[in-house]
Amino acid sequence: MIPQIINEKCNSCQICVQLCPAKALKGKIPQLDEKLCIQCGHCFSFCPQEAFFYSNDKENQEKHNQDDGWMQLLKMKRSCRIYTDDIPSNEILHDLALAANYSSTASNSRNWKCLFYFQPSVKSISKKICKSMVSQLNWIDNPLAAALLKNSSLKRYTRPNYVKPFKAKLKRGFEDNFDPIFFDAPVIALFLYPKGDRGLGLTNTALAAANMQIYAETLGLGTCHIGFAQRAFGNKALRKQWNIPLGYKVGQVLTLGYPRLKAKRTPPREIQIKSINNGLLAELE
Ligand SMILES: Cc1cc2nc3c(=O)[nH]c(=O)nc-3n(C[C@H](O)[C@H](O)[C@H](O)COP(=O)(O)O)c2cc1C
Ligand code: SF4
Ligand code: SF4
Repeated sequence: MIPQIINEKCNSCQICVQLCPAKALKGKIPQLDEKLCIQCGHCFSFCPQEAFFYSNDKENQEKHNQDDGWMQLLKMKRSCRIYTDDIPSNEILHDLALAANYSSTASNSRNWKCLFYFQPSVKSISKKICKSMVSQLNWIDNPLAAALLKNSSLKRYTRPNYVKPFKAKLKRGFEDNFDPIFFDAPVIALFLYPKGDRGLGLTNTALAAANMQIYAETLGLGTCHIGFAQRAFGNKALRKQWNIPLGYKVGQVLTLGYPRLKAKRTPPREIQIKSINNGLLAELE
């Protein structure tokens, strides 16, 4: 669902423009490019003027007000891309690892590791990733790639109005003091799994990371899953440079830090439950 903006309510603070992960908002009174929008609802959640709306949101907000604490926590937990300078203490990181440690693992293998990196290492890793992503985007930025990727989740990156500004941002990421990968988060957490454990290892790390994210939220921390970084760590040289133990792969990457902004509202996330044969099918809309 794509939010709409009420121009009269907007005070041009540009918070939504800064937070939009898809760079779909532009202008003094931001205009929304529907083709770029990934429907995350961050503009709706964070706008201090409540200038965004969904045509059918009344029901969602009413339901939200009746939710119990757990459901409210899950609904208000948004990916965090803007942090204060405060650094989570080692005790906090210990507790986060402990929360992740209580996630399920296949056959109770408990064979993942979590590696925390702090600044300035976070920025150095980001610079490497930006550089390698620019070369990948050079490959993607042509009509043949657009045709090959038309049914893939990478399709967005083949659109000229997305790829050009994105490439410029990545270039700033390795040339300037700017971090478009980890958003200057003070800490990142890399979840590692043994190479031989491919499918289940990835699942184990995803569950562990999800537990860490939820517990982090209860402590007032913000997190964001960084798929770009996970992909980049597919590169052996990068793993070696950043001391990933031999025989391990990077399953998940999270940023961690204290959010500079708090979400005010939760966007609607529609779900349809249908009866099928002897079961129920839940489909996200
Ligand atoms: C597997 C995975 C990879 C992601 N990779 C990135 C990423 O590289 N950069 C980023 O800014 N957000 C990333 N995200 C965050 C999503 O964009 C975000 O979850 C989505 O837009 C919904 O927003 P919400 O988490 O605030 O509800 C990722 C999320 C997941 C689950
Ligand atoms: S966050 Fe709200 S008030 Fe600020 S520019 Fe965006 S729409 Fe306008
Ligand atoms: S819903 Fe998300 S992607 Fe779409 S304009 Fe708002 S912040 Fe950007």
